[in-house]
Amino acid sequence: MVGQAPLTLLGIESSCDDSAAAVMREGPPGARILSSVVAGQAQLHAPFGGVVPEIAARAHAEALDHCVEAALSRAGLGLDRIDGIAVTSGPGLVGGLLAGVMTARGLAAATGLPLWGINHLAGHALTPRLTDDLPFPYLVLLVSGGHAQLLLVEGAAAFRRLGGTIDDAPGEAFDKVARLLGLPQPGGPAVEEAAQGGDPARFDLPRPLLDRDGLELSFSGLKTAVLRWRDRLVAEAGGLRESDRRDLCAGFEAAVADILSAKLRRAIAQARTIRPDLAGLAVAGGVAANRRLRAALETEAAGAGLPLVSPAPALCTDNAAMIAWAAIERARAGLAPGTDLTARPRWPLDEAAAPMLGSGRKGAKA
Ligand code: KG4
Ligand code: ZN
Repeated sequence: MVGQAPLTLLGIESSCDDSAAAVMREGPPGARILSSVVAGQAQLHAPFGGVVPEIAARAHAEALDHCVEAALSRAGLGLDRIDGIAVTSGPGLVGGLLAGVMTARGLAAATGLPLWGINHLAGHALTPRLTDDLPFPYLVLLVSGGHAQLLLVEGAAAFRRLGGTIDDAPGEAFDKVARLLGLPQPGGPAVEEAAQGGDPARFDLPRPLLDRDGLELSFSGLKTAVLRWRDRLVAEAGGLRESDRRDLCAGFEAAVADILSAKLRRAIAQARTIRPDLAGLAVAGGVAANRRLRAALETEAAGAGLPLVSPAPALCTDNAAMIAWAAIERARAGLAPGTDLTARPRWPLDEAAAPMLGSGRKGAKA
């Protein structure tokens, strides 16, 4: 903080299916990640085809202490060298959030360290400032297995939700389409690979909600359209040929890219009416790895004359460094740590925005 020794914070994240801890030291400038440990639970949930909250909660309770120990030891620091603890207190699955909050409260009670309760989405949304020093205000598109949001970020604690999904998250749609077409999980990379050389125009696939004003997103009708084409091809030819799979994947990818780039274009226009000084764009989340989507978003950014930042994958997906960073941002903005830290499974980042109808498979997360 200005005029004070740089903060060194311990971050803790357990809102969905990754237990994570990190140690971060404040700059200037920015901050340095001294360690970042992520223990994923994908294998535990794989047999069930989705995250099972009870299994997640138990796994977090078992893993978090080890993650914290590993993060401190990799940073080469004891708790006596830490200035505060930042923990995801929402939104997310209640059992996982409680495991994280209890771990943080236990450490704080034992050490007297201050505690920051951080909104998971704020962690994602502020990461482009950690990685690329992106100035406020900027627009961030979060696209992952659990998130689909368009946020205008005006400050460390000033977020406006301009749009988001009313049903599936895009990563979830990629995963479902992969399953429909007999491709492995996670579906995104599998669909992207299968789409190589495919004809995106062979099958007529919808672009849901593009014909309507507004920034809501929807992917479930698109997924159903892929299902219908698959069933028709199977009924006509007795099965899917390689070329059918290739063209369906290419068509699906192109539809997702069209939807997200058109909505980003609209969001830029809307953001500029609120903030004519809009400084940049950021895209984050696992789906941001998709090359066809990335190319489409680059085109939008270039057309709008704005830089497009995309943090490295390890900082785009769930991690605890982003949680520690969000606390550093809050501290720099003069916001005090909280006193009554509790888990908030439903915690919209923009409390003024109307709640959405749905929010994806890991919906509680976002
Ligand atoms: O952010 P992330 O790693 O984690 C959570 O959502 O928790 O996102 C994972 C999602 C998965 O649904 C995966 O299929 C998708 O991101 N994904 C992709 C690609 N790589 C990962 N989707 C499209 N194209 C990709 N190359
Ligand atoms: Zn997340």
